[in-house]
Amino acid sequence: MKLTQFVQALNEEFSQQTYGEHPEELYEPIRYLMSLGGKRMRPLMTLMATALFTDDWQKAIKPATAVEVFHNFTLMHDDIMDKAPLRRGKPTVHAKWNDNTAILSGDVMLVQAYELLMFVEDSKFKKALKRFNRTAAEVCEGQQLDMNFENRENVSEEEYLEMIKLKTSVLLGYALELGGIIGGGSEKSCDLLYNIGLNIGLGFQLKDDLLDVYGDPEKFGKQVGGDIISNKKTFMLIEALEKADGETKVALNKWLSLKEFDATEKVKAVTAIYDTLGIREVATVKINTYFDKAFEALESLKVDEDRKLILRTFAETLIDREV
Ligand code: IPE
Ligand code: IPE
Ligand code: MG
Ligand code: MG
Ligand code: MG
Repeated sequence: MKLTQFVQALNEEFSQQTYGEHPEELYEPIRYLMSLGGKRMRPLMTLMATALFTDDWQKAIKPATAVEVFHNFTLMHDDIMDKAPLRRGKPTVHAKWNDNTAILSGDVMLVQAYELLMFVEDSKFKKALKRFNRTAAEVCEGQQLDMNFENRENVSEEEYLEMIKLKTSVLLGYALELGGIIGGGSEKSCDLLYNIGLNIGLGFQLKDDLLDVYGDPEKFGKQVGGDIISNKKTFMLIEALEKADGETKVALNKWLSLKEFDATEKVKAVTAIYDTLGIREVATVKINTYFDKAFEALESLKVDEDRKLILRTFAETLIDREV
């Protein structure tokens, strides 16, 4: 198997997917966001995980797209919550239309995710659904914590890690676990796949936080500095608050407390503080730690080594991603 085969299969499936017609105002934003693509790594992970156990990985295509539609639903709502102007290099749904549109189109996407999940064969459906429900609730829990933390002065690294585990990692865990379930992997293998996904997810969200500061706006596709503007308690900020002292600490706290400010100026100043404190380097080490944990867990998975290779190679590309 090659990664390109999975990518092609997904592209074909997504190009055929329809989301509904009437009223146009409800469904057009879904077509818009889905057509912008993105990395589509979650469904890819589901297919890769299925193929660890069976050559008939095609049966996982539709269920895999459920994970992607669910992900896009969370993005549509996340962009309202984060007041984000850009997604995948284009205006966000709430910016292009309005908040109500993004709320309702997002809602119906969640329903569509369930419809797609129903393509899991009967004998495996209940397990897949049960795990999906748990995951979806956890994503909401993580998103609420993320919101709560914006208004808190002190958030520990431990609390941060729990928050990103919920908002981001559990879905990557589920994407792999679902593949394991569909592929017919043992319970132990499915648990291990979930664990691999969790660790990839922690590294992935840490990298997302890093790119939010240091990403190339042309490539990243999202507003660089958005997390700084909204005082997100990212790993970068938590680490900076811990490391800063003297004048640097005063300056950082001033920027965090200002109710009115010039956004460009704030992003520039806080980034300069991160530079001084070497936060980028600390974050990079941390990112590698989680990917290493994922690779270690993957090694202990009891399937053919050559079947694991695609997943490992794919995860490696996420470490150095710029998008
Ligand atoms: C963005 O996810 C949300 C996070 C969990 C950081 P992706 O980086 O996978 O976004 P797309 O789907 O590729 O656009
Ligand atoms: C997103 O976290 C997590 C979910 C969408 C559930 P972020 O808010 O950091 O994601 P981006 O940066 O907007 O993609
Ligand atoms: Mg967010
Ligand atoms: Mg966001
Ligand atoms: Mg982000």
